[in-house]
Amino acid sequence: MKILITGSNGLLGQKLLHKLRVDSSLDLIATSRGENRVSEKNGYTYLALDITDEKAVAQIIAMQKPDVVINTAAMTNVDLCEAEKENCDALNVNAVQYLADACQQIDAHLIHISTDFIFDGEDGPYKEEDEPNPLSYYGLSKLKSEQLLQTHAVKWTVLRTIIVFGVAENLSKGNLVLWAKGALEKGDPLNIIDDQFRAPTLAEDLADACILAAKKKALGVFNASGEDIMSIYEIVERIANHFGNTTENLNKISTATLNQTAGRPPKTGFILDKSKKVLGYNPHSFEDCLTIIDKQLNK
Ligand SMILES: NC(=O)c1ccc[n+]([C@@H]2O[C@H](COP(=O)([O-])OP(=O)(O)OC[C@H]3O[C@@H](n4cnc5c(N)ncnc54)[C@H](OP(=O)(O)O)[C@@H]3O)[C@@H](O)[C@H]2O)c1
Repeated sequence: MKILITGSNGLLGQKLLHKLRVDSSLDLIATSRGENRVSEKNGYTYLALDITDEKAVAQIIAMQKPDVVINTAAMTNVDLCEAEKENCDALNVNAVQYLADACQQIDAHLIHISTDFIFDGEDGPYKEEDEPNPLSYYGLSKLKSEQLLQTHAVKWTVLRTIIVFGVAENLSKGNLVLWAKGALEKGDPLNIIDDQFRAPTLAEDLADACILAAKKKALGVFNASGEDIMSIYEIVERIANHFGNTTENLNKISTATLNQTAGRPPKTGFILDKSKKVLGYNPHSFEDCLTIIDKQLNK
């Protein structure tokens, strides 16, 4: 099997790269925009690919002829998507169309990542077939990408996930767990929202869901998040307890006080029965995730 990853410099992209490059049963092509920022260069071929470039997408996929394409590249900054809707559509919607068209030409399977932000958060945790109602342009863009796949002739899988976190090198953005750990260590007062509930996802678990979907050739929509649903405050509190930081400096605040550009769903979380049964997905508990992160940071 030959697998091509997009966005291989990103958090999920790097986890996929490291898991797949050591699998001698497959060929791995890692692609991302610009230079390869992953220091390990063995076990795969790297090609620069900006997925908003339709011609480049078509050319590289036609030349490489992968059996599976895993699309991890996206514009994930929710407020930036609200402010830059055209750029958001270019990467989160139009580029998915280019990938789907190119995959269809060679009968490749496209695995794409979506989000809990397609829901309004009034009725979480959600099943795959629940009714979407995005509150943000980011959520809408991801919903549009799902809808275009649903009517496309390509073989596709959508994996929906929630707050992805993990340790990786040279990332262009941070993630909640590492940010909270660093901020707690500094000991400054921290204002944390306690009226949004999420099921944070270890990047390795999401990478496993992608690989399971690729190997089982599973088609359709699957939830692939962590299992523990907590308020953002509780997430930070559990990080503090795990790493032995005081919670005395933590203040609870409400979403309304933040005045964020884009709307956020109050309570998401996913029901994982389908992905456990069909894919064999088995995410770590949040506590185990923190132990894994701790080990990786102290390597
Ligand atoms: N992170 C979350 O909390 C979260 C939550 C729900 C769903 N998701 C979804 O999960 C997926 C993976 O997220 P992630 O956290 O791994 O994101 P990430 O760390 O931001 O990785 C995305 C990667 O895509 C690259 N990229 C950006 N524009 C590109 C382009 N035009 N062509 C090719 N590559 C491009 C980025 O490059 P640079 O590194 O050079 O910027 C980055 O390396 C995304 O689909 C995201 O929407 C994430």
